[in-house]
Formats: sequence, structure tokens, C-alpha cells
Amino acid sequence: MLLAGASCPSETARGPASRSAQTGESLVLFFTGSERGALKPCGCSGGQLGGLSKRAAIFNAVPSQSRMILDAGDLVADDGEQDLIKFGVLFEAYQLLGYDVVHLTERDVEIGHNLGLLRGRDYAFEIISSHWDATRDDRPWAFRKHFAMRGRDVFVNVASFDAQIDTAERAAIFFDSLPEARNVNVLILQNCPVEARKHWAERSGAHCLLCPIDSDDPQVLSEPDTNPVVISPGRLGRHIVRLQVNWPESNTGPTLHFEDVPVEETLPEDEVLVHLYRQYQQLVGESQLLENYPRVPLPDDLRFVGSENCASCHEYEYSRWKTKAHADAFATLAKVGSNRDPECVVCHVVGMDRASGFVTEEKTPEMKNVGCENCHGPGSEHVRTWGQAVTVEPRATCRDCHTPEHSSGFAGHEAEYMQKIVHWREP
Ligand code: HEC
Ligand code: HEC
Ligand code: HEC
Ligand code: HEC
Repeated sequence: MLLAGASCPSETARGPASRSAQTGESLVLFFTGSERGALKPCGCSGGQLGGLSKRAAIFNAVPSQSRMILDAGDLVADDGEQDLIKFGVLFEAYQLLGYDVVHLTERDVEIGHNLGLLRGRDYAFEIISSHWDATRDDRPWAFRKHFAMRGRDVFVNVASFDAQIDTAERAAIFFDSLPEARNVNVLILQNCPVEARKHWAERSGAHCLLCPIDSDDPQVLSEPDTNPVVISPGRLGRHIVRLQVNWPESNTGPTLHFEDVPVEETLPEDEVLVHLYRQYQQLVGESQLLENYPRVPLPDDLRFVGSENCASCHEYEYSRWKTKAHADAFATLAKVGSNRDPECVVCHVVGMDRASGFVTEEKTPEMKNVGCENCHGPGSEHVRTWGQAVTVEPRATCRDCHTPEHSSGFAGHEAEYMQKIVHWREP
């Protein structure tokens, strides 16, 4: 509270919020950011990284008194209804995971306000941003956490600056204004073009700059072994940045050791966060997301007719298809509780994003599963003309759904996949 009067970066809200902890030889800073709504990997194929429920295992490997956990913000990909649900879930998750501080971007602040999550609400973590609005916000743009490290005081100071509004010199003034101590200065820098990064690194007085870039993996953006270290925290919660802070007796400043920790599939899940995800699925299930999904008409007045309607003339193909995984794709979603989640349903049914395609299980049961028309195209004309109107060439459709993310084993094994779906009579 000493710093309540400090007035960078935007003359708004109050000075740094602070906390305190005892630690031993070293302390660890965990950074995440740019979740963009990725709460959990889809599970379509093996080896996927990420998932909030697996972070706990990584964080808890360090005792809570020797760590600080920070999220750099950019919580959701957009501001649609599903994004808003995710936003609230992420706030809940950060509390459950023991985050110390969550930084919000300009859009995060906007969404947080629209959802009523900011004004007059207290969380187990501090929320900082350089985009508060003085007329309605009373939150800080900086955060400090005190550690007693081998009996000596160490402060981790986190400040949010926006390169489009602020200058590196103002950041330096802020860090200089902090009481004389072992300070570890972390600057979350938004909207910083590559050309300006070096300038901010040299002038801002930070030991570590967090500059999110569009890369799933965390990256060290500065030259190896130079100070300060410039880091991008990665995206979609697939990795966590682990920064080990030491303070050698001989040295005048902190040494920061960067490590990229992938959030691997084999990590144990935290039950509380598993439960939170179920609540998320329930919220999605109770919403009208599927019903209200924007659906564009098919060209040429074509319509989907459903796989059952092909059976009368293609009994053999139909009965073969029935035995394949595609014909059960919707049940697969129901088993994991995501059968009302448009982000999943879209590839596990016929034509969710098209008029005459899947709407809900109750309204359009004939459109469940990956059906004939996913690959052969909408069949209304073909059926009406007793097979005169030709269907679509099916071989190129696989990639619409068997993307690297959702079907990691597909590329390079197309022939094996094709072999597994044979439902036609061999010539
Ligand atoms: C009323 C009967 C009838 C129905 C219903 C029907 N088809 Fe056909 N289909 C035919 C006939 C007849 C042919 C053979 C046409 C030819 O050889 O010229 C055919 C051919 C095909 C072919 C071979 C390639 C082509 O386009 O000629 C595919 C693929 C096909 N149908 C898919 C479907 C699908 C998918 C459905 C359901 C949406 C469906 N059919 C419904 C009668 C039907
Ligand atoms: C509309 C999306 C979609 C399209 C198009 C699609 N698939 Fe699939 N495919 C799926 C889904 C979803 C599953 C998982 C089904 C399940 O297990 O419930 C799947 C599963 C499979 C499987 C079973 C994998 C296994 O190991 O059991 C094979 C094989 C397959 N697809 C091959 C193909 C081929 C070949 C094509 C193109 C001709 C194709 N798929 C087109 C969505 C699609
Ligand atoms: C881009 C299309 C696509 C989307 C979106 C999608 N899936 Fe899938 N899903 C697939 C494909 C393709 C497969 C089959 C993968 C394979 O076997 O190679 C599959 C398979 C699966 C399987 C079966 C895995 C197994 O071990 O047999 C599950 C479970 C699943 N998906 C759940 C989900 C969930 C949950 C979501 C939403 C979070 C989702 N899918 C979104 C395409 C998709
Ligand atoms: C996952 C994609 C996929 C699904 C689902 C699917 N097919 Fe096919 N179908 C194919 C492919 C690929 C071929 C092989 C085409 C080729 O050899 O050029 C094929 C071949 C056929 C043929 C023979 C075409 C010919 O020219 O001889 C018929 C008929 C057919 N499918 C009907 C159906 C019917 C009916 C259904 C649903 C009950 C269905 N298919 C479901 C992809 C699919």
C-alpha cells in the first residue's frame, strides 16, 4: 500500500496489491496465458497437450509458499455466448488452482464487466490490468508478492503495460519507485511490435518481459543468456512456463532459469477441476447454443435427407456403414458429456452448420453421427431423381474432420483409414 500513489500507467486504479510468503532456497514463477477458451483437449486422438485439470500436478510440485502463479490473460477467443460461459469457468479455475494474479487484456476487461465478474467481486487471486476505466474500476495495474528467501526479503513485482499507450521509460520509473529490496520485476507487455521489443527490454527496468505471441509453445524471444529475458507464455494451455528464480550471494540481481513444461496427457487430473469441467458441460447443455447456431442454406436448394433415406436403394452400403465407427460418432460424444457442445458436435453429425442439417438430438435424430451425406454431399436431388443426379466425390472430405489436431494418426495413413471405412462393393 506504500505505492498507492504511484500513477503509471494510466492514472487510473489503485497501486499494487500485495501478498506475502516464506520460502527456502529459491522460488518459482509459473506463467500461463492466451488460453483462448481451451479448457480441455477434445480427446479425439491421443497425445494431446493441455487441460486445466492437469495443471495442478505441475503447480503443486512446488510448495505454495515458494511459488507465484500468474496468468497473462486473453482468456477467450471471441465474445460469443460460449466464450462468455468459458470466461466464468476460467475465473473459477484460477481460484481452484491457486493463482496469485490474473492479468486481463482490454477485451478481457470488457467481457469481465459485461458478465458482472469485476465490480464489487473478490477472488482468491488479484486481478490486474492496464485497461481499467477510472470511472468504474478500483483495481490495480500492478501486483507484488513478498517472499522471505533464506531470511531475506524478495519481492516479485508484476506490472501491466500497453506499448501503444505507455512508454518503457514510465515502466522504469515505476520499477525504480519500488522500495529498495531484492526485486524481481516482471512486465506484462501488450501490443508490443517485434521492432519495439528490444527497446522495452533495455529501458523498462524489468528482469522479465512477458510478450504473448501467436505460438502454442512458450518461447524465449530474447537472445540466450541475455538480460532481461523476454518470454511468450504459449497458447491454449498446452504448456506452462516455469521460471526458477535464484539470488546468488555474489550477484546483484536475480537469475532466472526458463523451463517449458508441457501439460502432458499422462499427468494426473485434479478431481475438483474435473468437476468444474462437468459443470461447464452442464451450462453448455442447458444453453441454447445448438439451437441458436448460425446455419447457412445449402446451394441450389439442396437439402440433407439423413442416412436412413439412403438405405432403401443402398441397403448393402447402409448395412456396412452401420458397423463402422462413424455410425456411432454421436454416442461417443454423449459418453463424454459433450453432445450439446457445438464445438464438438460439428464434426460428429451431419451438417450442423447448414440449414436442414443437425440441430439437436431430439429435433433431428436422423442427422446424428457421421452419415452418408458427410462424405457424399446433401442427397435431396439424388434421391428425388432416383440416382440420376450424381453425388459429391467423397475422397477429399476426410480432411474436413480428420485434421492434425483431431486425428493425429490420419496424415500419412490415409489408405489405412480408407480401408477401415469400406462399405462399397469392391469392383
Ligand atoms: C431412390 C433410390 C436411391 C436413393 C434413395 C439413393 N440412391 Fe444413390 N444411387 C441410386 C442409383 C440408381 C444409383 C446408380 C446411378 C448410376 O449408376 O447412374 C445411385 C448411385 C449412388 C452413388 C454412386 C455415385 C453416383 O453418384 O452415381 C452414390 C455414392 C450414392 N448413390 C449415394 C447415395 C446416398 C448418400 C444416398 C442418400 C442420401 C443415396 N444414394 C440415396 C439410387 C438411390
Ligand atoms: C464429418 C466429419 C468426418 C468426416 C468427413 C470423416 N470422418 Fe472419419 N471420423 C469422424 C469422427 C467423429 C470419428 C470418430 C467416431 C467415433 O469413434 O465415435 C471418425 C472415425 C474414423 C475412423 C475410425 C478410426 C478408428 O481408429 O477406429 C476411420 C477409419 C475414419 N474415420 C476414416 C475416415 C475417412 C477415410 C474419411 C474420408 C473418406 C472420413 N473418415 C471422413 C469424423 C469424420
Ligand atoms: C474437426 C472435427 C472434430 C471436432 C471439432 C471434434 N472432433 Fe472428436 N473426433 C474427430 C475425429 C476425426 C475423430 C476420429 C479420430 C481418429 O480416430 O483418428 C474423433 C474422435 C473422437 C473421440 C473418440 C476417441 C477415441 O479414443 O476413440 C472422442 C471421445 C471425441 N472425438 C470427442 C470430441 C469432443 C469432446 C469434442 C469437442 C471438445 C470433439 N470431439 C470435437 C473430429 C472432431
Ligand atoms: C466417411 C465418408 C463416407 C461415409 C460416411 C459414407 N461413404 Fe460411401 N463412400 C465413401 C468413399 C470414400 C467411397 C469410395 C469412393 C471411390 O471408390 O471412389 C464410397 C463409396 C460408396 C458407394 C459406391 C460408389 C461407387 O461409385 O461405386 C456408395 C453407393 C456409397 N458409398 C454409399 C454410401 C451410403 C449409402 C452411405 C451411408 C449409409 C455412405 N456411403 C457413407 C465415403 C463415405
